[in-house]
Amino acid sequence: MGKKRIIAITQMQGTYARKAFPCFDEPGMKAVFHITLIHDLEKTALSNSQEIKTENVIINGTQVARTIFGPTKKMSTYLIAFVVSDFRFISVKDKKGVLVRIWARKKAIDDGQGDYALKITQPILEFFEKYYNTSYPLSKSDQIALPDFNSGAMENWGLVTYRETALLYDSRTSANGNKQRILTVVSHELAHMWFGNLVTLKWWNDLWLNEGFASYVEYLGADYAEPTWNMKEQIILYDLQSAFAVDGLTSSHPLSRKEEEVNTPSEISEMFNTISYSKGAAVLKMLSEFLTEPVFAKGLGNYLKQFAFGSSVYTDLWDHLQKAVDQTPGMKLPHSVHEIMNRWILQMGFPVITIDTRTGNVSQKHFLLEPQAVVERKSEFNYEWFVPIKWMKKHQVQDQLWLLQKSDLHNPMKVSKNEWVLANLNMSGYFRVNYDLGNWERLISQLESDHQVIPVVNRAQILDDAFNLARASFINITLALRTTKYLLRERQYIPWEAALRNLNYFFQLFDRSEVYGAMQVYLKKQIKPLFEYFETISSNWTRVPSGHTDQFTQIISLSLACSTGVEGCRELTRSWFKKWMQNPHNNTIHPNLRSTVYCNAIAGGGAEEWNFGWQMFQKATVAAEAVKLRSALACTKVPWLLNRYLEYTMNPEKIRKQDATSTIGYIASNIIGQPLAWDFVRANWDYFFKMYGTGSFSFSRLISDITYRFCTPFELSQLKRFQKDNAETGFGSGTQALQQAIEKTTAKIKWLAENKEPVLQWFLSEAA
Ligand code: BES
Ligand code: ZN
Repeated sequence: MGKKRIIAITQMQGTYARKAFPCFDEPGMKAVFHITLIHDLEKTALSNSQEIKTENVIINGTQVARTIFGPTKKMSTYLIAFVVSDFRFISVKDKKGVLVRIWARKKAIDDGQGDYALKITQPILEFFEKYYNTSYPLSKSDQIALPDFNSGAMENWGLVTYRETALLYDSRTSANGNKQRILTVVSHELAHMWFGNLVTLKWWNDLWLNEGFASYVEYLGADYAEPTWNMKEQIILYDLQSAFAVDGLTSSHPLSRKEEEVNTPSEISEMFNTISYSKGAAVLKMLSEFLTEPVFAKGLGNYLKQFAFGSSVYTDLWDHLQKAVDQTPGMKLPHSVHEIMNRWILQMGFPVITIDTRTGNVSQKHFLLEPQAVVERKSEFNYEWFVPIKWMKKHQVQDQLWLLQKSDLHNPMKVSKNEWVLANLNMSGYFRVNYDLGNWERLISQLESDHQVIPVVNRAQILDDAFNLARASFINITLALRTTKYLLRERQYIPWEAALRNLNYFFQLFDRSEVYGAMQVYLKKQIKPLFEYFETISSNWTRVPSGHTDQFTQIISLSLACSTGVEGCRELTRSWFKKWMQNPHNNTIHPNLRSTVYCNAIAGGGAEEWNFGWQMFQKATVAAEAVKLRSALACTKVPWLLNRYLEYTMNPEKIRKQDATSTIGYIASNIIGQPLAWDFVRANWDYFFKMYGTGSFSFSRLISDITYRFCTPFELSQLKRFQKDNAETGFGSGTQALQQAIEKTTAKIKWLAENKEPVLQWFLSEAA
């Protein structure tokens, strides 16, 4: 091991600037900051503005350096940052003279790990300048990769801080998924340079708009920098469908909160949740699509102009969008932007739209994962929404419709027996869709005869809607299962990923029961053609498919084939791993396939494989490679190895503080590891609460990860007991996650009681 080095960094959002210097630490209070840092001689100091000079001074008899920075723009305290390090950088200057630098450990920079970030930063800045119709407001943009960092990245103005995995890419060892993560994180943080930093929401209650906005436009910036990657489509997997998953619970909450409801630091940190990020992104995408992008961008640009270097509330954005609508000839909305959006942001949840194609009747209902659950939270809009519906009939896209009441007759949606209707085209709206049985049948036969007629995003939507409608008892589970039959011919990533997530959910429910065997046989049959397809086009796994998302699909094919036991798969991955073990200095496994290969080999092996993986983990100099090993180490089936690994998460010398909770999560996703992880966290609750209890993402994710499999009355009673036992310490930023876990477990118990038998029968009949 090398020499220990120390760096100093800051994280001010939300309430920590006051710990660094005396200030009015509220986002709406802006000032110009003159920053000077005193530090060790051989280190470099960075802050929001460009350094003007560094001089040597003597303080208390010691020689130190003093770096003076230019005055900042008028800005909020939570965006201030200081870094002192011995890091190195690479840089470019754009046409207008803005300096872009990528900073990291010397070895990482020397190895070229910053090159990809440097390549995309400039185009992304250029994209946002155009999109926002506003120049980048500062003279420099630093991005710095930190070896241990609580969140993924932080948008400090002019000095963005990142986890190493969110900024550093090594072409020899990183997967294309790692590259995509860098692209979207950089795009997200740079989007904040205007939306959030130049114009700041006055108080934390409007955080959803700040984070939701960046989470939406990150796909636009990413698409501009990598136009062949289909980035815009992926929002449905990473935001829409994940928002649906929590917003269908009665324990959800509205996007928007009143100023006086958000006061304490932990209330502020609780605002950083899936609703703010992903539902925020989804409703803004919907808004942009029904206004059309030019109108949306025009209103947005004017909003930024009016409030530049100042602060605003969310209705200010609606005002400017409304003005843009009013100035657009021929543009007509059924209600104002305010009135339409109120229904999406002031009440929780979302509707399921039911279309009866026999009559043309369209109706809406609050979608709840547990249909009998009592909704205690009242809504002034009675859980009804103004819903923009883009739709098509077989072969033709139709004009957008609005559903403005509980139910309405839309004659064009009445179709004959050989046509079908498909609504929520490209998933531009934040709602689910149900149909009369006949239309479902026709959609399923369309999938089976020629699935390409249905847009790729909607193939994913049909799968995800069907499974969730079945979970909420709107349709039969066998109908949902039938939407997976066409997968034999599916080659695209988005539908496969949507299917995989729903099937994984099934794995979690059934892998301890008799359903499991029959399900395995069916899935093996479904995945085999995909596995063979990639085997062929990759010349026996020696070449990588050229399409970006095809590379993701290849990974799915390998991992599902191995987990369902497709002949040759496990032998193949194990032989690759063995070869590496024999020659540790020459890892020939393709980076894209490493996660799957490592996991399979460690799952099938014992202490020898595990210890080899652990050694490689400790030696890894590329953060993305370290993550692959760290997650694969959780795949072992050997209990003592899993328990020892759990212990490591409390020792930062072994597992970094930033990685402890996700490591426990990996272990909990392993069927053998799940009860071990649950016991471990409960036994050490005080420790975990003290270390992570108020750090937004990690803590709530820990709770949802360790309870993810729960589906029996006994597990539910354990959960409730856990809630009672720790009522005094509390659950900090995991409070909502715990409520969600209880509600999800309750729903699963009920659902299983009614559906386990039909599911078993269906798999048995298909497997025969
Ligand atoms: N402002 C957040 C970082 C943050 C999160 C600060 C929670 C304080 C508490 C930043 O813009 C962000 O959203 N980062 C994400 C990554 C992003 C690509 C979604 C993160 O940290 O996961
Ligand atoms: Zn953000």
